Amino acid sequence: MIDQTFPQRVFSGIKPSGGLTLGNYLGAIKRWVEMQEDPGYETVYCVVDMHAVTVWQDPADLTRATREVAAAMIASGIDPEKSILFNQCRVPAHAELGWLLSCVARVGWMNRMTQFKDKAGKNTEKVSLGLYAYPALMAADILAYHATHVPVGEDQKQHVELTRDIASKFNHDYGVEFFPMTEPVIEGPAMRVMNLRDGSKKMSKSGDSDMERINMLDDADAIAKKFKKARSDAEELPSEVAGLKDRPEAKNLVDIYAGLTERDTADVLAEFGGAGWGKFKPALADLAVEKLAPVSDEMRRLLDAPDELDAIMARGAERAAGVAEPILARTFEIMGFVR
Ligand code: TRP
Repeated sequence: MIDQTFPQRVFSGIKPSGGLTLGNYLGAIKRWVEMQEDPGYETVYCVVDMHAVTVWQDPADLTRATREVAAAMIASGIDPEKSILFNQCRVPAHAELGWLLSCVARVGWMNRMTQFKDKAGKNTEKVSLGLYAYPALMAADILAYHATHVPVGEDQKQHVELTRDIASKFNHDYGVEFFPMTEPVIEGPAMRVMNLRDGSKKMSKSGDSDMERINMLDDADAIAKKFKKARSDAEELPSEVAGLKDRPEAKNLVDIYAGLTERDTADVLAEFGGAGWGKFKPALADLAVEKLAPVSDEMRRLLDAPDELDAIMARGAERAAGVAEPILARTFEIMGFVR
């Protein structure tokens, strides 16, 4: 048995497919910044480009989206000095460990992945093999860094649990205590940003109408207009959280306000309870412009200097490889590879 103590290390990733929304900002990136500032954690954040190609990506779109995700992270406060920030394809350890772990994972485990079932629908014969296998690559992303904490949305919890199953089967089969049991850190419901036109659906980067989402690259006018036209309801704002029950659109707008000001929902309602939408929506629009416009301006500035952005990711990849390579090498060694 190898005795090993694991440092607290955070790993998370965003796929560069389509644009980024307020949901990515409030639900994920903002929290990643908080973890970065916590001295108890080492943080590794990745633009998971190899996951994006599990479904078709136009090459020019992949290039643009990769830079856009990196720019969004930096503009939102991920500091490439404090965190390791890079894009996945630059660190071959992900793909290599992904293969090894796909030989540990069982087909029966993959068959239980609900996201695959949802994404493939009736089309299970036509989707890529990569889409089916991708949770093993995700496990490799996490385990190549011996990550102990993975902040993700509820929809990714099952994949982190699979990562633990893979880690524990590996440890058991080879008689080692090598891979850690990674904890998912799940976003709270208030951090789940919903569609501005239908509060029962998650805000998605791929929905039909642009009015249903706030894109991280939207300018001030677009942000203000979208919040002013967001669907609400006929009642005024309640003074207590219980009053938002069965009012999904109202709840979403109040939660967004709370998220942007880093207050809790109850606190926002204590201020706005009894107000009508004619008062709340312009306040929300102003707040969102104040908070988001500097982020989108900085993103545009970074995207105008792609060489600078690429150099930051390349430097991050070197640091990432410095952590992942020895872990991969030890994995090969445990398994008996002659290298
Ligand atoms: N699967 C995640 C998603 O679709 C992205 C991802 C890939 C990820 N590898 C990861 C998230 C590792 C956390 C850790 O959102």
